[in-house]
Amino acid sequence: MSNKVRKAGFEALKKHKKRLAGTSMRELFTHDEDRFSSYSASFGDILLDYSKNRIDSQSMAALFDLARETDVEARRHQMWAGDPINITENRSVLHMALRYGGDEAVMVEGADVMPAVRDVLARIKGFSNDVRDGAVRGALGDQFTDVVNIGIGGSDLGPAMVTLALEPYTRANLRAHYVSNVDGAHMHDTLKGLDPARTLFIVASKTFTTDETMTNAHTARKWLADALGEQAVNDHFAAVSTNIEGCQAFSIREDRIFGFWDWVGGRYSVWSAIGLPVAIAVGYDNFEAFLRGAYEMDQHFLTAPLEENLPVIMGLLGVWYRNAWGFATHAVLPYDQRLSRFPAYLQQQDMESNGKSMTLNGKAVPWETGPVIWGEPGTNGQHAFYQLIHQGTSVIPCDFLVAANPQEDLPPHHAKLVANCLAQSEALMLGKTEDEVINELKGTGLSKDQIKALTPHKVFPGNRPSNTIMYSRLDPATLGKLVALYEHKVFVQGTIWNVNSYDQWGVELGKQLAKALLPKVEGAETAESHDSSTRGLLDHFRALKG
Ligand code: F6P
Repeated sequence: MSNKVRKAGFEALKKHKKRLAGTSMRELFTHDEDRFSSYSASFGDILLDYSKNRIDSQSMAALFDLARETDVEARRHQMWAGDPINITENRSVLHMALRYGGDEAVMVEGADVMPAVRDVLARIKGFSNDVRDGAVRGALGDQFTDVVNIGIGGSDLGPAMVTLALEPYTRANLRAHYVSNVDGAHMHDTLKGLDPARTLFIVASKTFTTDETMTNAHTARKWLADALGEQAVNDHFAAVSTNIEGCQAFSIREDRIFGFWDWVGGRYSVWSAIGLPVAIAVGYDNFEAFLRGAYEMDQHFLTAPLEENLPVIMGLLGVWYRNAWGFATHAVLPYDQRLSRFPAYLQQQDMESNGKSMTLNGKAVPWETGPVIWGEPGTNGQHAFYQLIHQGTSVIPCDFLVAANPQEDLPPHHAKLVANCLAQSEALMLGKTEDEVINELKGTGLSKDQIKALTPHKVFPGNRPSNTIMYSRLDPATLGKLVALYEHKVFVQGTIWNVNSYDQWGVELGKQLAKALLPKVEGAETAESHDSSTRGLLDHFRALKG
């Protein structure tokens, strides 16, 4: 579809924005008793309440039109058919194959990828069971108690987020740790207190060339060899990568190398062997349930009509706020402590995917693309940054996530958590009017003048949009559904914005410059060729360095 169609679609959205700008959500709720049922949708146990958005039936119709005109329906099938929709790398985008539970072939370049997918899953099952049962042990015969995953970006954020989310399914005597940062403090602090004889390392890197990961892997290897001898390394390392030769060059033994494929993007790889530490930590059956949940969400995304399709609705609302209202950020606020790393995970999933400014044709994108994604769990965020969401000058659309059932029996915690979650979206929508503030202050003994002075500070503008995503319990299948929901949301937005959501060239320049700067930081080369700021910082660094 041409840019012309998109521009016309965004213009239509702006007209609806203009029409709706003078009507508050408070009014929309007052005039429509059924607003909740009109603007909520569900799949399985997941409910999406999107009624607290600045929308009406006409603006939603315009959004669904835009999705149809930009071929969202056809493109989702192209992705599933294995078309190389990652055009700058000429790759298919088939993370859905990794969790596919059906019997059909899934084709990439004329070959069915499912036998290889199932083979790796069977190997993950075997190895994770063996580690958990103690059939696979360290070089001295000890059972593993600690698994250290060494990876960064998609080779870290996904499994780290999932392991934390599924903590109730982990065992106290088998801990998973995640080391990502090249800052030696990360490795140092993780290894502190670990017993080398009981520690298993997994080097996770799609490319097996990422500098942070290789540096950390070498440090871990030295730590292990210093403690147990070089011959022990073999028994304490596994690797996950598409670069099998790279793993072999690191001397990882053949039966400990778990492959995946270039049609899996790093930020979409938690479903692949990158999930190995998750399978070890929570058990293969739970890992499989996580995949099954995602598969179910895939089927929903591929088949449900747009108007009932959760990822489509969420994607469209994001487009609405980005392109018609100009809102630049989007907050993800899980009222679920175990989803603490979900916003960070989504930052990569969303911002590395849609943080683009070229169309698929290589022309500058003439509209806004991906927003800044950020967030922290509630209720903590309420006591930190919610002030700005309620009364700041920027409007920040929010996603609230909350489970109906906690994993632990600790009343009254969960009831309080849910009450806070519902209160926040209600407060954001309703706000507090001047009259309400004055009435409230009247009984407090303040003078008229004091009330007059205080009132403007206590008024909440309200009309601040949010979605609430409610699910039964944060179990493996539901988590799989939630992650896939956001993946497909990103796809919908990338399709509408006409960008390639599956490359990430923007991270390369910094990598190149870091390589060039290393000898200057180490003092092996002079820094004349650099700008005066970089030179000045290097000089200062040398002066401060002990
Ligand atoms: O530099 C960005 C990136 O390529 C991400 O896309 C990726 O998830 C991460 O680095 C790690 O890459 P790898 O798994 O190849 O080590």
